[in-house]
Formats: sequence, C-alpha cells, structure tokens
Amino acid sequence: MSAENRDTSKMWRGVGQGKLILLGEHAVVWGTPALAAGLDQGALAQVYWAPDASHSELTLYSSDKILAQLTDRSDDPLGVALRALLETMQITEHVAAQVILQLPAGAGLGSSAALAVALARALAKMIDRADDDDLIDAAVMASETIFHHSPSGIDQTAARLGGLFCFERGEPAVITPLHVSPPQLLVCQAAPGASTARQVEAVASLRARNPEQFEHIEALITSLVSGAREALEASDWPRLGELMNLNHGALASMGVSTSALDHACHIARDAGALGAKLTGAGGGGCVIALVTDETRERVLHAWREADMTCFPAQIKTNA
Ligand code: PMV
Repeated sequence: MSAENRDTSKMWRGVGQGKLILLGEHAVVWGTPALAAGLDQGALAQVYWAPDASHSELTLYSSDKILAQLTDRSDDPLGVALRALLETMQITEHVAAQVILQLPAGAGLGSSAALAVALARALAKMIDRADDDDLIDAAVMASETIFHHSPSGIDQTAARLGGLFCFERGEPAVITPLHVSPPQLLVCQAAPGASTARQVEAVASLRARNPEQFEHIEALITSLVSGAREALEASDWPRLGELMNLNHGALASMGVSTSALDHACHIARDAGALGAKLTGAGGGGCVIALVTDETRERVLHAWREADMTCFPAQIKTNA
C-alpha cells in the first residue's frame, strides 16, 4: 500500500508498564540476578499514519501537560529513540505518535522502557506484526540503548511482562516469573533523577579500579537477591525489609546513593517501614519502602511532611 492510501483516521494503541527494582540494580548489569516488579502505571501510546507530514512526530504528555513535542529528525534523545524504533521496525512512512506517561520520567521507574514498549506495540499493530515479539524486543532495545547505552534488559522485561520476576542478564536473559503475594511497597521521589548511563559508567569505573572488592560486593548482592526471593516466596516481610536495607547499603558503597536518597530511606524506616532502599540507577530519583497495613499511612505522611512526592506502588501481579 502506498503512503497516500494509508487510512489516516485509523489509530493503533499500545501499553508499556513501569517497573521497580526490588533488589539487585547495577549488579544486574554485570550478570548477577535481580528482582523486579512491573507497575500498573506506565505509558499509553497511540499512533496514526501521517502521509502528509514532513516528518514522523511524537508528542509526550503527562496527566496534565505536554512534556515534549519532537520529530524523528530531532537530536534530543527522545527524537533519536523515535528514529531508532522506526528504523528497527523498517517503517519508512511518516507517523504521528502520542504517548501519555503515567510515571515521573528519569526517576528510576522505567519510564523510557515503558514508553518504548508502548510505542513499539502500537507500531507493530500498525504494520500488522502485533505478534512479532522479536521485532518489538529489538525495537525497544534500540530505543533503550539511546538512553542507557548498555541496558541489562530488566526495564524492558518489566515493561513488557509486568508481574514480579527474577531477571538474569544473558543471551537470552533468564526471566523467572514469581507467583507470590505482592509486597506492599511505597514509592517516594526524593530528588530529580540522574542519567542511568552516567551512573552505570561511574560504577563500572569504580569496579575497574577495585576488582577484588567488587567480587565481594557481587557475592553480597547475589546472596541478598537469593535471600529476598526466598523471603518473597514465604511472604516473610520483615526479612525482605532487612535485605532491602542491606542492599541500599551496598548501593551506597558503590557511590550511587545521595544524601536525599539516604534521607528518604531514614524517614521511611523511622516511620516504621520494614525496609527502604533506592531503586534504579540512583544519583537521584526514587526510594521504595516496604510497609504493612499498620505503617503505610505513617510512612506516606512522614515523606509528605518532608515535602517529598510519594505514592503506593500498584504492582501488576502475574496472572
Ligand atoms: O534506568 P533506571 O534508573 O530504571 O535503572 C536501570 C537499572 C540499572 O541496573 C542501573 C541499569 C540496567 O540496565 O539494568
């Protein structure tokens, strides 16, 4: 079908989920297992053919405003990511895309992967390849590489699958869905997010300078993740909380915590959280806290008192 014959009134939709890393971020890049959960909140995309437009274009919205408006010619990372998605999917005709982001961007909640999965799914439907998971994965990986340089793949796995899962990087990655009761987690945006690529690079260079010490850190995180998996399977929340606290300490030792993230963790623990840690790349961004019915409101209140934005995580459970 030629571009002129495209039905411009037709629209295709796709969704992608955000994520929380429960334990194991950063070390997952070097191949140790990590635990993550897909969130109910994520990104919603809709795409149309735009044969009369001079470029493909993307408008990104939050719930109440336009966050960005750009074309596939833009040098903005989002424009480059749009180009990477279209090229990987071999879409040469112009499209108009709109994405609603339901999560704060760049805060460690997987917004870029959610956006890429939502867009790739909508575009795949548009070209009659909705069932081509390999194509969707390749397009999302191309987009994520723009933001993360060498992503482990944990974000796009969460954005695509949702649920709670254990992830181990590899060719292919080992993804084990966990059919467990979801923990009660709260999210606090303690500070503006930092670049994941830069955080990962900083850890890589610290690791290169201290290879022996990092062998111990790697062994520690491997054991924290395996203990946390057992705790999740047993719904042993106090133990899971302790392991999260230990993981935060390990991440701080790797230089990716900040005083704002530490402060948010201390506020949560002081208000009764069973555990609290940074989630994602760190350097800013979000903290998660494990709570119970009794402590949930106290922790939310304590964060709000400190002027921090916070909300309960809606974990998308495995069916
Ligand atoms: O980009 P973020 O903040 O969602 O973090 C990604 C998790 C890292 O382990 C730091 C990087 C990766 O690719 O796994």
